[in-house]
Amino acid sequence: MGITYNSNNQLFTLETQNTTYQFQVDICGFLLHLYYGKKVSGNMNYLLTFYDRGFSGNPNDAEADRTYSMDALPQEFPSLGTGDYRNCALIMENSDGSFSCDLRYQRHEIKKGKYQLEGLPAVYAAEEEGETLEIFLEDPVTGVQAILYYGLLPQYDIITRSVKLINRGEGKVYIRKAASASLDFLSGDYDVITFYGRHAMERNVQRLPVSHGRQVIGSSRGTSSHQYNPAMILAEKNTGEKAGGCYGMTFVYSGNFEGAVEKDQYNQTRMMMGLSETMFRYPLDPGEDFWVPETVLTYSAEGLNGLSRNYHRCFRNNLCRGKYKNAARPIVINSWEADYFNFTGESFLELAKEAADLGIETVVLDDGWFGKRNDDNTSLGDWVVNEKKLGCSLGELIRRVNALGVRFGIWIEPEMISEDSELYRAHPDWVLRIPGRAPVRARNQLVLDFSRKEIRDYVFDQICSILDQGNVEYIKWDMNRSLSDIYSGSTQDQGRVLHDYVLGVYDFMERMLRRYPDILLEGCSGGGGRFDAGMLYYAPQIWCSDNTDAVDRVEIQYGTSFIYPVCCTGSHVSDVPNHQTGRSTPLKTRGVVAMAGTFGYEWNLRVLSEKEKEEIRQQIRDYKRYEPLIRTGDYYRLSCPQTDEIGAWAFVSPDREKVLLNVVMLKKHGNMTINYVKLQGLDPDKIYQDQNYRRSYSGSALMEAGLPLPIESGEYLAYQFYLREITEEKEE
Ligand code: GLA
Repeated sequence: MGITYNSNNQLFTLETQNTTYQFQVDICGFLLHLYYGKKVSGNMNYLLTFYDRGFSGNPNDAEADRTYSMDALPQEFPSLGTGDYRNCALIMENSDGSFSCDLRYQRHEIKKGKYQLEGLPAVYAAEEEGETLEIFLEDPVTGVQAILYYGLLPQYDIITRSVKLINRGEGKVYIRKAASASLDFLSGDYDVITFYGRHAMERNVQRLPVSHGRQVIGSSRGTSSHQYNPAMILAEKNTGEKAGGCYGMTFVYSGNFEGAVEKDQYNQTRMMMGLSETMFRYPLDPGEDFWVPETVLTYSAEGLNGLSRNYHRCFRNNLCRGKYKNAARPIVINSWEADYFNFTGESFLELAKEAADLGIETVVLDDGWFGKRNDDNTSLGDWVVNEKKLGCSLGELIRRVNALGVRFGIWIEPEMISEDSELYRAHPDWVLRIPGRAPVRARNQLVLDFSRKEIRDYVFDQICSILDQGNVEYIKWDMNRSLSDIYSGSTQDQGRVLHDYVLGVYDFMERMLRRYPDILLEGCSGGGGRFDAGMLYYAPQIWCSDNTDAVDRVEIQYGTSFIYPVCCTGSHVSDVPNHQTGRSTPLKTRGVVAMAGTFGYEWNLRVLSEKEKEEIRQQIRDYKRYEPLIRTGDYYRLSCPQTDEIGAWAFVSPDREKVLLNVVMLKKHGNMTINYVKLQGLDPDKIYQDQNYRRSYSGSALMEAGLPLPIESGEYLAYQFYLREITEEKEE
């Protein structure tokens, strides 16, 4: 395992536990990709074929060889200007106005540990956990240098890629397009899986055949967006959850992105992930450099569940940081669906009292506590406590909450500004806005220009002065609109603003985490509008969706689980009829669904019946019992809720001794047929006992034949089966 270089044939081989990635430097100094997939041995360059192809040009230094074309050969980092007319990873605009960049190999370095990016989130690894390969490429004409970074985390079958672009030339150049990962597949028929959605219905799964013509997902909203998640999976045709080959690309970035896949003229497939070209034209003066955000690759021969497990382990252990990375997250009650804007200090304390009585650990004061914000039209930017509404200072309120034995959390939305605010009246020029144009409004709010340090500094001080008023242990960082009117008063180069905005957000978050290392940060953007691997570096959990309907959540969390671990997925039990859909589901079902995430409540606890309270107490006891398994166990999708009658998923402990199987009946019919749910990831030779019904089964039976689900009267019923290994099978 590890990174090796064979100097005889200039061959680089990256080996993880189960995969091989290989490429070579060819005679002209181009990097040719050779192979990525299940572990193989030997030099794979026999796969390259050379034919004289019409209208596929040849690099000048190939001389008379008309069979050598960048338009047909597989590459590591395809760049516009070399005769490759397929989707390319790099487009440079040179100081003479031309668009050519011809990068050739200079040298490389192999290092222990994993590289890090400046100012950007990335997977990290200790010296003995990871390895780094740096390949230095240069365009001799413009002096543009690209350093390709490969990070290897062999134990998770993870390979990361990033690129640093450096202008070593004399004139100013512009980056017009930059992707950090490009993969060429010489043969094969694939499907592409992507995650599309909208506010309150994020990350629906779509699987389509890869065909001629580029299939592109992306965002130009300034955030990764509800509409497309920055992740793609390329799956072999026969790949399912349990078996088959599949490749993942996940972008560690929270802004505009583009993911693309295309079958080319020779039936080869190219898959790519990087920054969006829209409104992007990043300047580099001589001596300046630019980091292209990281893409995390993985390959699994064990189907989509295998791919998800690789990502889950990596993100949980080597992307999330801080005190809560490996700790049980507090059970939260959030005031939003309990009270919306209509609370007082007293009513909030009532909520905290009920929370204490039920065993809920943290109470979060959501939107509405500052300025004169009693609806969503005002006061963003005025981070001043509305003491009149609270009836006391924030410090006093927190003390009283803490005295009940409950922790305190607070909602903030630092990137935003209301036109009706003191801040806007004082600094109307602080917003993103094109001179002479009336800006697009969304939720009646505008966006602060976070690419500007002085604006971030001001907001940072305001937020700190709030956090310093008392024992704040949790922050929900929200972001409730898409960016528009991209123009910053601080630069001539508007093509840099969107990326600088994201860097600004990361800088703010990093500073906040340094100053308040013990605070648990939860990300949020109208629910799951910025649910991406970039955010997870700062916020180890993200509110999954503003839709808390248990039935919709089964689908939303199903889509989310392909890439992101459940311990990062914010999920709460809420009232019925559900506030977003009007649907009613049993309390048990809402609990089972919320347990596939960072568990909590979003509900007016003050009006609950004694029966509901008793059920909630039991729910909390159950959750605490299962919590370590949910957080650290391997996650298996066992149904497709988009098409099946059931939603089913399981957590299996790493030692395969404990299993929590969860099922929600999504469809109801007269004289129902039986649904059997087949488990995965168990030890076939172990005997598992259902802890509630005391019935035992072999692991092989549970996996090969499955468990029949009961037919009971009622809609959207849920079941939880807690199975544990027993050493001796008792006769039933
Ligand atoms: C967004 C969030 C909600 C809530 C509101 C408050 O929509 O996703 O959870 O915090 O904002 O305005």
